[in-house]
Amino acid sequence: MPPYLAKVAKLGKRILIVDAFAGPGRFKDGTAGSPLIIAKAAERFAPGKYDAYFFNNRESHHKLLASILERQGISAAKPVFGDAIEQLTHLIERLRDETLFLYFDPYGLNCEFDLLRPLLERHKSFSTEILINLHMPISHRLGSRHRVQRDGIEDSQIKSYHEKLTRVYGGDFWRDILVEGQYANAKEREEVLIDNYRGLLASTGYLSFTGACPIREKTDSATKYFMVFASPHPDALLLLNDEMCKSFNAHMHNQEVKDTLFADSSWTEWRNPGRIRDIALQSVHDFPRETRLELWRRIVGAHFMRFTKSEFGKAIKHLCDTGKIECITPVIRGGTRPTKRLNDNCAFMPSATSIMF
Ligand SMILES: C[S@@+](CC[C@H](N)C(=O)[O-])C[C@H]1O[C@@H](n2cnc3c(N)ncnc32)[C@H](O)[C@@H]1O
Repeated sequence: MPPYLAKVAKLGKRILIVDAFAGPGRFKDGTAGSPLIIAKAAERFAPGKYDAYFFNNRESHHKLLASILERQGISAAKPVFGDAIEQLTHLIERLRDETLFLYFDPYGLNCEFDLLRPLLERHKSFSTEILINLHMPISHRLGSRHRVQRDGIEDSQIKSYHEKLTRVYGGDFWRDILVEGQYANAKEREEVLIDNYRGLLASTGYLSFTGACPIREKTDSATKYFMVFASPHPDALLLLNDEMCKSFNAHMHNQEVKDTLFADSSWTEWRNPGRIRDIALQSVHDFPRETRLELWRRIVGAHFMRFTKSEFGKAIKHLCDTGKIECITPVIRGGTRPTKRLNDNCAFMPSATSIMF
């Protein structure tokens, strides 16, 4: 939230933030839930410039959240008691040129694609970010792969499950993936499913930058859900690439090393820099004269969440230091490269020896 809000606060449009399935504001252990995180960040980075709506259809959650927000004195954050889908439908109908941030975190699969369609058609000059959690165990259950494959028929219950999946995923492409597909395992099916869903979100050419992060207990446990985002801005892709890469790997690492001798180690100590060096070198070969930022955008587009920007920066420096590529941006004080230090504006070429190799 902080870098996003700091950036859109400068756009000069009213910011509308919606946490459609808000919850009570705090988890049982006292940690802040999404509405509180959002409201605090908005007060800090866009005070007076935003309205935040938090929907809850459970009265106890609504009341708890309302009292927490009141105690914090955050009046621009409005808890609303009502059904998220109904409230959102009205809100989207009334939408004009506001900067919109929409977060969906239902327990199940309670966000159908038709609700999102008008947002995919917004004018390209408007700012819209969608963040949505798609529940994987329920997706598999509704797909009923084993029952359909075993019995070869779709009874009325399975039919209604399948209709639900079509409504949620915005088409019946899920069928080839979840039911018929020849994928090796559930995780592979999920990846393809989410890739297709991202493609659909991007299909109007407006929310072209999409990505997804799997949420799991441990590396080898089942995926609970995918957090999917869609944005019209390439910066969102770069920002979320780093955030998701760090959060995912730090969590996986901590789960694996807790109660071991390595409990105090950091996930970054275990990373192998070889892969990003190879990819960076290949990119410089494929796209000579592109800047570090242009190359990074390409790599994130093709390998979302695999590497951080800092790892990429170090890989580029290593390739320069070892003579595999060279920086062709001259050092000119006041220019795009004011010191010897490499920056995002620096352009690169494969070195002559590396081309021969
Ligand atoms: C997964 S929790 C949200 C947790 C929240 N994102 C957080 O970080 O604290 C989903 C919440 O949505 C509420 N909810 C479920 N269905 C709803 C609906 N149709 N309309 C509004 N709220 C709903 C649930 O009662 C629950 O409080």
